[in-house]
Amino acid sequence: MQTRALQAYFGSTHAVRDVSLDFPANEVTAIIGPSGCGKSTLLRCLNRMHETIPLARVEGEVLFHGQNIYSPDVDPIALRRHVGMVFQRPTPFPTMSIRDNVAAGLRVQPGERLDRKQVDAIVEQALKQAALWDEVKDRLKGSATGISGGQQQRLCIARALATSPKVLLLDEPTASLDPLSTQKVEELVYELRKSMTVIIVTHNMQQAARVSDRTVFMLSGEMVETASTRVMFTTPSDPRTEAYITGRFG
Ligand SMILES: Nc1ncnc2c1ncn2[C@@H]1O[C@H](COP(=O)(O)OP(=O)(O)OP(=O)(O)O)[C@@H](O)[C@H]1O
Ligand SMILES: [Mg+2]
Repeated sequence: MQTRALQAYFGSTHAVRDVSLDFPANEVTAIIGPSGCGKSTLLRCLNRMHETIPLARVEGEVLFHGQNIYSPDVDPIALRRHVGMVFQRPTPFPTMSIRDNVAAGLRVQPGERLDRKQVDAIVEQALKQAALWDEVKDRLKGSATGISGGQQQRLCIARALATSPKVLLLDEPTASLDPLSTQKVEELVYELRKSMTVIIVTHNMQQAARVSDRTVFMLSGEMVETASTRVMFTTPSDPRTEAYITGRFG
């Protein structure tokens, strides 16, 4: 996935400024930067969630398999099955069972009717991939809100994985989790890149260093620097990057 001269606005607020980036497949890219610098906005531009906000608009291109996702013939709902997203706070559908939460994205898949057994198999696979299966396999019909916050977040990851996305967008996915749940999600992120492109927004520098292959540093809507994570955290080339990662601001 790539962005080309991407601009994002909320009314007159220019939240993402001329960002051109490549997000390589089978790698984890971390996006870091101080609060309000445009990390979440950039992420939401990658699966056309930005435009769901009133007064929000996008200019420039986002290329997914070489095609601009903003061209008029792209269906944003179909796109979001290929470019899944997980938010800071777990967002399970509260009235649905654990199983139905994972299956929720499958329902809108056009041209294909899955029978119950097929859905069960997909649910099982997604929950295994999200490292949650063992903890919920005996309570799949139970409520999705009857499990812990860390489990709910992995449930949301399983829901995003059920449609076999090629890109997974994670916006501070461990911000509301305890250390053990955080570790589980980090291990999962590390595994997932074997089969997809992963882009993770994080405030936690150690987390970026642990899970990512590349890091992007943003400031005031601009992309200041991108490099391999190792280089970024040892020898950043921009003094603003160095100031941020050494904790001098933000
Ligand atoms: N729904 C919205 N309506 C109007 N302006 C918004 C909205 N969401 C974000 N903004 C503005 O866009 C800019 C970028 O915000 P964004 O949420 O992308 O930052 P962020 O880097 O994700 O911050 P944080 O680390 O606090 O999550 C900020 O100036 C913010 O005030
Ligand atoms: Mg944010």
